Formats: sequence, C-alpha cells, structure tokens
Amino acid sequence: MIQECNNYSLLPHNTFGIDVKTAHFIEYDTEEDLRRLFTSGKVARPWLPIGSGSNLLFLKDYEGTILHSRINYLKLTDETKEKVHICVGSGVEWDDFVAYCVQHGWYGAENLSLIPGEVGAAAVQNIGAYGVEVKDIIESVTTMDVQGNEQVYAVEACHYGYRHSIFKEIEMQNKIVTSVCFCLRKTEGFTLNYGTIREELKNYSGEPTLPNVRQAIIDIRKNKLPDPSVVGNAGSFFMNPVVDRTKYESLKNDYPDMPYYNVDETRVKIPAAWMIDRCGWKGQTRGAVGVHDKQALVLINKGGAKGSEVAALAEEIKLSVFQQFKIDIFPEVKFV
Ligand code: EPU
Repeated sequence: MIQECNNYSLLPHNTFGIDVKTAHFIEYDTEEDLRRLFTSGKVARPWLPIGSGSNLLFLKDYEGTILHSRINYLKLTDETKEKVHICVGSGVEWDDFVAYCVQHGWYGAENLSLIPGEVGAAAVQNIGAYGVEVKDIIESVTTMDVQGNEQVYAVEACHYGYRHSIFKEIEMQNKIVTSVCFCLRKTEGFTLNYGTIREELKNYSGEPTLPNVRQAIIDIRKNKLPDPSVVGNAGSFFMNPVVDRTKYESLKNDYPDMPYYNVDETRVKIPAAWMIDRCGWKGQTRGAVGVHDKQALVLINKGGAKGSEVAALAEEIKLSVFQQFKIDIFPEVKFV
C-alpha cells in the first residue's frame, strides 16, 4: 500500500523533535509499491528517503517529497549449524531486529541494542557501538533506482568505513535501500572489551548470555544517552575525528589523560566527547538547546527548538574545540 500526504508535519519523524513540515510525504509497504511510485513519476525532485529521522537535523520546512519505507519483512534465507542468513526490509525498527536475533539465540547484533532508527538507515550510516559496526554482520544491501531496477551490493562493494558507506556518496542519489541481508552466528561469541560492558555484566550472575549482554548494553545506553521520546536528540552529534599520529603525540604531551583509539599505524581516533567536555560544554544551554549533562557529544532540544538554534550551538562547539585542540570536528548528523 502507498500512503501520501501534503503539507505534513515531520515532528513524529525526527528524533530531535524539530517542528517542520514537508510539502509531500509518502510511505510505501513493498518494493513493488516503491517501483510504482518511481515509474509513475509521482516522486518529483527534490526527494529524500528517511528512516526514523534519528540522524537528521531539519533547518527549515522541506520543499519536496519525503519517502518513508514500511517494508517490514524478516526472511530467513539460509541456515546451517553455525550460521543464519536473514534478509530484512528497510523499514524494520533496528532494535526490533536486534531483539529478534537475541530471542532466536543468534550472535552478532547484541552490542548494537537500543540504537534508534530503521534497518535501511542503519546500513547507510554503518551504525556502530561498543566495538561493533553493522557492517560486521551485513552480507549484502539491496537498492532500487528511480527506474525501478534493483541492485544488490555485496558487503565489500558497500565501501564501509566509520559511519560511512557508498550509499552516502553522490552517485547513489538516484537509489534507495530497500532491504539488508545479514549473517548471524549460532555459536557463542561476544565482543565485551569496550568501555564498561564487563563491569555492567557483573550485575548478572554466571557466564554472559545473549539476553544479559543485550540488557547490559541497554542499561549503559539508558544511563548515558537521553531517551529521544522524552528529550529531543540525535545521539552523537559529531563524529570522532581521526588525526595523524604526530598530531596525537603532541596532544598527548599536553593532555596525558586523553583517551584515544588506534585506527592503524599512522592514524588515531580522538573522542570528540572528551574534547567538548574539556572545553566545558557538558550541561551548558543556549535558550531551547543544550549539551547533555551526561554525554558531551549529544546536543538536546529542551523544547520547541528550531534546527537553526541547534546548528548555531554546534558551530560554537566546533569553534571552541578548534581553538583549544586545533582539530576540526564534523557533524555525524545530516543537516536538511
Ligand atoms: N567522554 C568524556 N566526556 C563525555 C563523554 C565521554 O570525556 O561527556 C570520554 C569517555 O570517558 C571515553 C570517550 O570520551 O573515554 C569516549 O566516550 P564513549 O565511549 O561514551 O563513546 P563516544 O566516542 O562518545 C561513540 C559513538 C556512539 C557509541 C559509543 C559507544 C561516535 C560519534 N559515537 O561515542 O554512537 O554509542 O561510542 O560505542 O562514534 C551515535 O553514533 O549516535 C552514538 C551514540
């Protein structure tokens, strides 16, 4: 089924809770619906596919068509003693998929518990948390172009990097992700060495289990990150910058307690949250917007904020980080 609306409020479709409208809003349930939409010419430029709007900042009303997938199947395509292969519609809630994997005893997705958003956007953004990125469990991604042709990208062809994929590149602007195929393990194997996971797991007796690891991740996230249904936000606002090792060494001299992650022999990732925190931003407010008091990387809408106010605060933060550390930080959130 296809549903269309004109002059439609995007308030329920962006987790920042910015009150803007779109000229047209279209939802579709199947690949066939999307093909009909494209080939009938109903989708005029500009158009923008969105998931649950958990990584978007709307600066003004959208003068085009917003497309939202409700393709919501989970199809088991193959199963062996060790592995399952499952293809999932782009409109499935990401965390519903993680919960499904955990319930079925499939390993690989549990560290990505409670990340807001939908499966299609997760594959575009290469969501990541607690030592795992979604690319680690993706086998292929299927897209549809404006002529209605489907194309399957094997994971190697997706050019995955830190919060990056080929689907963010300019050549993909004629395509929409319609489904994602995953491979999960049936044999036990956890990623527990990131941050406080092991500490959190001490709340549970015995060896780690899938439900306990999922719950530990949920508890860590709930403790640090504001619930978007209560306080508008889009998770990490900035990406963690990657700097060369010489830059890192000189910073380390000035700030011996600076956390970091090795990327490769020549590059190091510095947590933007730590730098923003050192600049004194945690808990600061500017009118209707502010910096979360438990995670400096999260900007919040305290109620009725405009996108431009969030963008102005982000610019102020970016400048102060540059002044203190001589490092440029860039938004993870997409401005529309
Ligand atoms: N830190 C501070 N002050 C703060 C917050 C953090 O000094 O206010 C320090 C922490 O002590 C730690 C370091 O900064 O040493 C990194 O913090 P954390 O582990 O919380 O992770 P992050 O780098 O801030 C990234 C992802 C998150 C993901 C977490 C956990 C990015 C942009 N963000 O955050 O992803 O949940 O790691 O893996 O890579 C998201 O993308 O929306 C998101 C929430």
